[in-house]
Amino acid sequence: MNAALGDSRTRAAAWPAVPDMPTLPGGWALARMSARDLDAVVDIEQRAYSHPWTRGNFENSVKAGHIGLTLRDPAGKLAGYAVLMPVVDEMHLLNITIEPARHRRGLGKLLLAVALATAHQHRLPNVLLEVRPSNTAALALYEAAGFEAIGRRKGYYPAAGGREDALVLRRRWDTGQDREQDLEPDRKQGSEQGSEQGSEQGSEQGGTREASA
Ligand SMILES: CC(C)(COP(=O)(O)OP(=O)(O)OC[C@H]1O[C@@H](n2cnc3c(N)ncnc32)[C@H](O)[C@@H]1OP(=O)(O)O)[C@@H](O)C(=O)NCCC(=O)NCCS
Repeated sequence: MNAALGDSRTRAAAWPAVPDMPTLPGGWALARMSARDLDAVVDIEQRAYSHPWTRGNFENSVKAGHIGLTLRDPAGKLAGYAVLMPVVDEMHLLNITIEPARHRRGLGKLLLAVALATAHQHRLPNVLLEVRPSNTAALALYEAAGFEAIGRRKGYYPAAGGREDALVLRRRWDTGQDREQDLEPDRKQGSEQGSEQGSEQGSEQGGTREASA
């Protein structure tokens, strides 16, 4: 357990226990990511990360059927995006990014709420992600949303002067069924696959790299 996330359950009170799709502000639009979005996505990605995903990483993700989501402002300008990958009975948040000039305006919180609600719509009551311990902004966001640290992957990310561990975080909710689960070997493998784009390639790639979001 990461100390910064230790009180995540109590801090989650502002977030619904079971995620509903949030209402977007007037004129804002959510859509599935397509090839037409990639110029704008890659532009933001390169400005948002020290080790960004490549255009090819996004293309592969879209082709693989991952759930890419774009958030556009009333003028149609891309403000943020997220990439989600269902693995068995979990949803992996591979990438969540807000355009740097628009940080701290509630957009990350909105997009994360959309991601959680998307998992809920897919009947997947577990959302997993990886994050750099140094990414204090993302950690604060995830903590507020009720994520808990459930593991650490050693040397997962490239970093200036070496490698950086990844914290594995999970947010889950009760579906009324007994879905108690932990990182069992088969799921762990699936998770590694999802992070494939993130760890070696994705170490290059960033999403799984940063977030596995
Ligand atoms: C992480 C990220 C998505 C947050 O998006 P954002 O739109 O700036 O976040 P929000 O304005 O919705 O903030 C929601 C909460 O997150 C936390 N938070 C966000 N940025 C923070 C920061 N720089 N420092 C501390 N807490 C922060 C706060 O709890 C904040 O709530 P508050 O504003 O009421 O205090 C954004 O910083 C980003 O795109 N970073 C680069 C890409 C990245 O690191 N993605 C995550 C990879 S794991």
